[in-house]
Amino acid sequence: MSNEPNIHDMTQTTCDPPRPQLDNGGPRPVLEVRNVTRTYASEPPVQALRGVSFAVQPGELVAVVGPSGSGKTTLLHLMGTLDRPSTGTVRITGLDVAAMSDRQLAALRATQIGFVFQQFFLSEHSTLVENVADGLLYTGTRPADRRAQALNALGLVGLADRPDARPTQLSGGQRQRVAIARALVGRPSIVLADEPTGNLDSATGASIVELLQDLHDAGVTIVVITHDRSLADRLPRRIEMLDGRIIADTATATPTGTGSVPVDATNAVHADDSRLRSGRQP
Ligand SMILES: Nc1ncnc2c1ncn2[C@@H]1O[C@H](COP(=O)(O)OP(=O)(O)O)[C@@H](O)[C@H]1O
Ligand SMILES: [Mg+2]
Repeated sequence: MSNEPNIHDMTQTTCDPPRPQLDNGGPRPVLEVRNVTRTYASEPPVQALRGVSFAVQPGELVAVVGPSGSGKTTLLHLMGTLDRPSTGTVRITGLDVAAMSDRQLAALRATQIGFVFQQFFLSEHSTLVENVADGLLYTGTRPADRRAQALNALGLVGLADRPDARPTQLSGGQRQRVAIARALVGRPSIVLADEPTGNLDSATGASIVELLQDLHDAGVTIVVITHDRSLADRLPRRIEMLDGRIIADTATATPTGTGSVPVDATNAVHADDSRLRSGRQP
């Protein structure tokens, strides 16, 4: 038997975090965005999102693509519960974000959402395995287990052999792999990536896209935000944005697309769900 880290170890159901459940005869969307607007109270006010609706089903790999200023990062912040919509509804694993306290949202983020950013955001004073283990800080994972899970996650991104290196010793592509491992280590319900190849040359960016496709093949649910149409065209579903609106969604263009599941059918879980009690406040 191989001791290689197995990507399925990271994505299978264990005791927690919760996995999508079957109710109302179908899988519950991991993410539901319904009639969402976001207006920044700047002078003059900016309507960054003007009524956006879509759902992401378990296991999907979705590109949100559009030019600079179309509202992609604003949407990512709402999907990631880092910001709240001006109007409309965001649900993560069926939980209505508006009904939750900041403390509950922090717990939801820690256990259900993995973030990847263009700038990597690694600590240069920490080793790779420490950086990845930081992804477990607020999940209630025992310190003794954090390193083992972080080593496994580093294996998933092809960096198992250098756990004690520092980010400064790595290339940009390797740094982004570490950031992806940190996003995966808590086995979140969804990974949100904002321009993950934006700081990389095209060959390195292509290898990151391949990694995301491998993770998708292993069942990880991923939303990738990008202005790069050639990158988006390589992903199975594309949501196209312009001026704060969705102007195309390949899931709804295809009758068999999973994104066409009505978002109203699945509100079976409430904000007092026990999954949130395990999370601790930062
Ligand atoms: N904090 C903010 N205050 C005011 N306007 C903002 C703020 N953040 C973004 N915007 C504006 O909202 C629009 C959408 O921005 P953003 O979501 O960053 O788009 P994208 O990520 O597609 O480039 C742009 O017009 C941008 O200038
Ligand atoms: Mg942006």
